[in-house]
Amino acid sequence: MAYLEIRQTGPLSGTYRVQGSKNAVLPMLAATLLVPGKTTLHRVPKIKDVNVMLEILHLLGCCSCWEGEALTIDAGNVNNWVIPEELIGQMRSSVILLAPILYRMKKAAVVEPGGCSIGRRPIDIHLYVLQALGVKLHYEWEEHIFAQADYFCGAHLFLKFPSVGATEQAILAAVTANGMTVIDNAAREPEISELCRMLRGMGAKITGDQTGRIVIEGVKELFESTCEVGADRIVAATCLSAVAVCSGEITLTGVDASHLNGVIEPFEKMGCKIWSDKDTLTAARMDKLMAIPYLKTSPYPGFPTDVQSLIMAVMSFADGQSVVEEGIFEGRFRTAYQLQKMGAAIIIENNQAIIWGGHLIGTKVEAPDLRGGAALAIAGLGADGVTTIFGYDHIARGYEDLAGMLFMLGAQAALRE
Ligand code: EPZ
Repeated sequence: MAYLEIRQTGPLSGTYRVQGSKNAVLPMLAATLLVPGKTTLHRVPKIKDVNVMLEILHLLGCCSCWEGEALTIDAGNVNNWVIPEELIGQMRSSVILLAPILYRMKKAAVVEPGGCSIGRRPIDIHLYVLQALGVKLHYEWEEHIFAQADYFCGAHLFLKFPSVGATEQAILAAVTANGMTVIDNAAREPEISELCRMLRGMGAKITGDQTGRIVIEGVKELFESTCEVGADRIVAATCLSAVAVCSGEITLTGVDASHLNGVIEPFEKMGCKIWSDKDTLTAARMDKLMAIPYLKTSPYPGFPTDVQSLIMAVMSFADGQSVVEEGIFEGRFRTAYQLQKMGAAIIIENNQAIIWGGHLIGTKVEAPDLRGGAALAIAGLGADGVTTIFGYDHIARGYEDLAGMLFMLGAQAALRE
């Protein structure tokens, strides 16, 4: 069973080209079903979640072909409409496949994905969106959902929460709907804009994807295209966390700094200097690492919930008391208990973590989830001795090679079998 071995590391120095974005490529892969032909995506990260999505696409009748970082999906022969229960359990975000499957097959079936380690993860907003766009939903044996629609009808949608996945579901349905669709209180994450950029390249008519109000004029059909996946902003934030803990200076290439809205400011408050030029971002920490009195996770352009565990690890070394409030998921503090095993002074009160920076000691820890596993690696860079991180399966869902990435930045990190 693979595990990470992280040793305390001094000042970093290195360059890393950031991998393609997991949370952008997954909806883009779902969008390939909207064309009965070939779509090629470039800079696709070789991660577990992409492999699960490919497994589902193959079961739906698609073929796929890798050429380096380019992935071509041939959706010419979609002949199935069921998202397999064991695969949606592995990757909840595959629920966004409902809209494209309905477009191709006029019916779809899925089991409610259920909760995970970070929260209950309901899909009620997804279902609201589909019903508003004309989909008939039937429930068999409670959580089995059967959906039917000969076509989508444009509608004016208001999301009760700017859900990223439900916004993607709405877009994937509305682009071929009869008439206009307006999505109010839509998510504004960069991954939404990436999906819209790809769909516009396929002939979709979408505006407003960074404003919270997305307007879509449905078209009869979409066309074959190619599209490049943008950099993974959470992986970039992981690199910022590493240099914040170790000090030194690192360079990230292939990054759109505007996607790091909400992330750069807190790291600067902690003592990092961050500057960008075109698609290169440089980050350094020469001064003392400072605590942040209060930080709350919120929808984009706020501080991302996916960086919460990472910054909690950084705060474990900062001078003073920090408070992080989790404003998105109700169960996303499990990493704190693993950090406590390393000697971190953290208490959890309701949906806040209170962290007093200090001294950590390397030990054996278990990744509770994807971003928590990365956070433990970041903590290991600053802790005395060696930190061994089990549960690497979680980390492999979103990082092509976390140890290799940290090693390229000058850290003592290795993946052991
Ligand atoms: C996406 O998840 C990301 N995953 C998550 O990243 C990220 O943490 C999250 O957005 C928030 O930014 C992917 O893009 C694959 P949401 P998603 O729908 O779409 C509630 C990672 O580590 N909600 O915006 O599932 C929900 O319970 C992952 O890469 C409903 O109530 O997130 C949560 O409290 C983790 N009903 C809040 O909205 C719904 O129908 C945000 O969820 C849907 C969501």
